[in-house]
Amino acid sequence: MKVLGISDNHNAGAAVVIDGRLVAAVNEERLCREKNRLGFPALAIAEVLRLSGLRPDEVDHVVVAGDITPCFFLRLIPHWHRGAKNHSGQFGVLFDLYTYYQVAARYFALPYQLDRRLSRALLVRRLTPLGLHAPLGFWEHHQAHAAAAFLGGPFSRALVITADAMGDGLTATVGIGHPDGRVERVFEQSGMAALNPYYSRVTEMLGFVPNRHEGKVTGLAAYGDGERLAPLFRRSLRFRRGSFTRLGNPIGHSLGFGWYRHLVGEPREDVAAACQLVLEEAVTAFVAHWARRLDLADVVLAGGIFENVKLNQRLRELPEIREVSVFPNMSDGGLAAGAALGVDAAKPAPLADAYLGTEYREDEIRRELDRWGLDYTRPARLAEEVAARLARGEVVARFHGRMEYGPRALGHRTIYCRPDDPAVNDWLNRRLGRSEFMPFAPMVLAAAADRCFVGMSGGRYTARFMNMCFDCTAYMKKVAAGCVHVDGTARPQIVDREHNPDAFAILAAYERLTGTPVLINTSFNMHEEPIVMSPADAVRSFRQGRLDWLAIGPYLVRARP
Ligand SMILES: [Fe+2]
Repeated sequence: MKVLGISDNHNAGAAVVIDGRLVAAVNEERLCREKNRLGFPALAIAEVLRLSGLRPDEVDHVVVAGDITPCFFLRLIPHWHRGAKNHSGQFGVLFDLYTYYQVAARYFALPYQLDRRLSRALLVRRLTPLGLHAPLGFWEHHQAHAAAAFLGGPFSRALVITADAMGDGLTATVGIGHPDGRVERVFEQSGMAALNPYYSRVTEMLGFVPNRHEGKVTGLAAYGDGERLAPLFRRSLRFRRGSFTRLGNPIGHSLGFGWYRHLVGEPREDVAAACQLVLEEAVTAFVAHWARRLDLADVVLAGGIFENVKLNQRLRELPEIREVSVFPNMSDGGLAAGAALGVDAAKPAPLADAYLGTEYREDEIRRELDRWGLDYTRPARLAEEVAARLARGEVVARFHGRMEYGPRALGHRTIYCRPDDPAVNDWLNRRLGRSEFMPFAPMVLAAAADRCFVGMSGGRYTARFMNMCFDCTAYMKKVAAGCVHVDGTARPQIVDREHNPDAFAILAAYERLTGTPVLINTSFNMHEEPIVMSPADAVRSFRQGRLDWLAIGPYLVRARP
């Protein structure tokens, strides 16, 4: 069966599953060059069909992730929805009304059915001009997260946890993943859970952009004292007696700014630390509770909450848990793949890699380099040439093969740098126009993973996708000081020859030259832009970013002096 999955909410995208296998997946932001682009993903649909070699009339089934998220009204006028999402508004009354609507619609059949019918009519109108006439189905938001986590994960039987702000009126679900591919839901918590706006509201309070900069809050947390303000946060968010505490009266909270007003004037490091601490307490209690109750020690995770790499570390460290797997595109960006897998996959099959996006031919790359009159060579041993420049302390951007699916660059749209300079975060972030509190992430050879990190066994699969922090060993702190956080952790990508041959070749060559099996890997993009997709994006970012070298396809390009 050939299934096209679509998601038209926050960070929209499309994916194709053929006979149970995910063969192509792209988010709209990469094509339209607007980060987290929301709305109908017309460009991504055309791209995944092209990548899969399918004509629109060959698609057997189209599935949309999300019944009523977004609701019909927001689907109808996506530019309004986009404006609302891209601006701060976590404390606004409209946000609260939307929460009420989604939760109410979930429990009353009439608005639910009406919203879905109207959405169906609207989506058919948008799919028809693309030549897509296959039967259209809907997959509930958390069901799509659960399918992605379980069917794209490494276990035949697992505890399936989804948690995010809210989708289709729910904030969190628990399921049992069975060997036949079924996810049996055993618990769901409504969008009235205090977990819903928790992290995004703190993100906004600290002056960052909610739904985008939550990772900065996680990074900042390591610099603060969480215990001092934690009691205040615990008044809002706790997991007790089998569920999360509720929001209380959200509209009242918004108008009076609720308990958040007590945080005004507090050092933002301490606010971030307390927010992170209480999130970890609540979500680890939730996962431990269900692992014990269902007697399942392997857990798969998806939903925006699990972008939090520190939280994922805490979950792996739970005594109830043997191994944790996080879907590589864990937030709403991965919903299209989840829905398509849910419709077609018969049994769980771990993703070999996340290289599911667009690839360019050598002549397309060369044409772009010639267009700009760039100075390039085609070295016979590119990996060795790249490694030699990295060893000299130069910065090399790498563009190779199919683009990654998900928020992390995993060696195909990556900027490499040597890892031993503790000052690298200042100077490289300045060059890239970024402000970050989390250090750059290391890329590490699989053979050296246990030499560099503690507790790899519970997260070896997920560490291939850079979605979990680990405590660093003394060796790692010595050889790669530039990518160890102040709390002694790092968020590695573990690389082997089989799954990441290009990154492996560069890293192995660097190890032969310097003795260190570690490089810095940061995403290839400039300030607040999506990760580069095409050679044109790569050349533009290379020129803006004042990088030293661009290794694109088989070519090595020198920066203009
Ligand atoms: Fe979600």
